[in-house]
Amino acid sequence: MRMILFSSRQYDIDTFNEANTTYRYDLQFQESHLDADTAILAQGFDAVCPFVNDSVDATVLERLRDGGTKLIALRSAGFNHVDLAAAERLGIAVVRVPAYSPHAVAEHAVGLILALNRRLPRAVARTREGDFSLNGLLGFDLHGKTVGVIGTGMIGRVFGRIMAGFGMQVLAYDPGTPADDLLALGARYVTLDTLLSESDVVSLHCPLLPATHHLINDAALASMKRGAMLINTGRGGLVESNALIGALKTGQLGNLGLDVYEEEGGLFFEDHSNHPLQDDVLARLLMFPNVIVTAHQAFFTREAMNEIAQTTLGNVNAWLDGAPRNLVQTRAD
Ligand code: NAI
Repeated sequence: MRMILFSSRQYDIDTFNEANTTYRYDLQFQESHLDADTAILAQGFDAVCPFVNDSVDATVLERLRDGGTKLIALRSAGFNHVDLAAAERLGIAVVRVPAYSPHAVAEHAVGLILALNRRLPRAVARTREGDFSLNGLLGFDLHGKTVGVIGTGMIGRVFGRIMAGFGMQVLAYDPGTPADDLLALGARYVTLDTLLSESDVVSLHCPLLPATHHLINDAALASMKRGAMLINTGRGGLVESNALIGALKTGQLGNLGLDVYEEEGGLFFEDHSNHPLQDDVLARLLMFPNVIVTAHQAFFTREAMNEIAQTTLGNVNAWLDGAPRNLVQTRAD
């Protein structure tokens, strides 16, 4: 079995090679993104393993099919970058890693909240310069405040439990079944409008679907509590990036933590420090003192990386055995 892994970095090579000692598949690590131009590199590979910012649209899938690919083994939970209908039409199975470490993402979201609230990047930069003053570093107690969790699946539930541990009132919005563990901790399921208008901190943990695209737009930002904090570790497309700038300028949005960004493809996971940043919206966001941007690193813990490699190769193995698991279906859920 030959598999090519696009957008590979040294950490992918290390974790996949270690997991592959069990399977001994022929793995080829490719640094390039997968797109219509690079799909040719997958010629002769049974399986293709893309990452989150690779393009797996109909054109790419057709080229992969022509090259003999029969399996897309995503090394991510999210699958919004795959044209599932085209894959089905072309007879290419798509599998993913539905759960690795929900703790990794939830804990990173909490990290963003603490770093923003207590101005940690600014405080650290100051003490390094010998400036030990506190002006401008005033935070607030999370205890007693309200956090709104949008999407209480695996990650949102872990996040809600941690925030309940801080003594926060948890409000939740999810069109699916309420999570028992959150209810047991006193969480209240409310409408999206209520969540937005009553939360001091809003955190996004729902998938990117047509229904959730730009869920946070001008209107949603206007309906939030003045000065509230917004955290997005879900997907960039959940938030209309342009709308954030206006809300930050007026102070309607008090703090913003982004681990994902709508136009992150081609930027995140790469070192662009020697070039002028071409994305004016991101450049503006990075200039606000009350904004923290991390480059899609919420998943990036040792435990999660090992789990991703193990599950991906396990998915390939199950597919080879004729009993595929973790298949992504065409219905959007
Ligand atoms: P999950 O499938 O367990 O949970 C998603 C939840 O969102 C479900 O309970 C679902 O009912 C809910 N949902 C669906 N439509 C919704 C809507 N319109 N409004 C509110 N909730 C809605 O997924 P999981 O594992 O918790 O991951 C959530 C998302 O986090 C993923 O879809 C992915 O995009 C993102 N993610 C980000 C990572 C990062 O490194 N930044 C890493 C892993 C996942």
